[in-house]
Amino acid sequence: MSVHQEVKRVTTHIMQEMKNKGVKISMLTGYDYSMARILDDAGIDIILVGDSASNVMAGHETTLPITLDQMIYHAASVIRAVSRSFVVVDLPFGSYQGDSKKALNSAIRIMKEAGAHGVKLEGGMEVGESVKRILTAGIPVMGHLGLTPQSIYKFGTYTVRAKEEEEANRLIEDARYLESLGCFSIVLEKIPAVLAAKVAKTLTIPVIGIGAGNGVDGQVLVTHDMLGINKEFRPRFLRIYEDLYSKMLQAFEKYIQDVKSGDFPNQDEQY
Ligand code: KIV
Repeated sequence: MSVHQEVKRVTTHIMQEMKNKGVKISMLTGYDYSMARILDDAGIDIILVGDSASNVMAGHETTLPITLDQMIYHAASVIRAVSRSFVVVDLPFGSYQGDSKKALNSAIRIMKEAGAHGVKLEGGMEVGESVKRILTAGIPVMGHLGLTPQSIYKFGTYTVRAKEEEEANRLIEDARYLESLGCFSIVLEKIPAVLAAKVAKTLTIPVIGIGAGNGVDGQVLVTHDMLGINKEFRPRFLRIYEDLYSKMLQAFEKYIQDVKSGDFPNQDEQY
């Protein structure tokens, strides 16, 4: 039996074991109870309550506007659905940068009010103090390097990061640093596959990629994107597993037609 099949509840220890045994880690985003139930039933290892909720759930252009209270609401909904998956919650923009005490308070609120299993935050050395302080409370921390959407106004674009040697070296340093602090895992977003594979090989902790090739220890995608719900978002790294936009559109159109024509409800669909 594989590590994956044996697992009753995914823990940081289990994820480390997966890396050690070469078992890939699966991770997808979840923001609500119903979707999280399906993800958990499917056997996903990690559900990320990502601040991408700001985009896919709330319709904002960036991840910056989502608040800590809103993240806690999404996370609590996900936690109520889950029996096996490990649930990591993004610390939203403004809840941890530059103030380690605030970072600890934000992380504690996520753990206490939502019942989350760990937190994720973006950045390397610059968020070191926040990472250290959160870890002192026994809260598992996942790092996030490469394209870090909370810094979109610094980068200016959502293009591939760390293509140049200097930025690539800095990323490796940051990854090593986060591991040395005690992060249990790191997400690498939109960086060259060769660099991501190098980081995964260098670090002992699991490295999860999104747009970072196949040489890492696991993969993450935004669930709404891989289900094809967001028909405008089609980057090269995205594999679309279902065209739910078209399927849902058809279902809604059929319902509207049935209501208008008086076909719904029929004799069997009433009391
Ligand atoms: O918020 C999010 O969905 C993320 C993933 C893209 C890794 O951080």
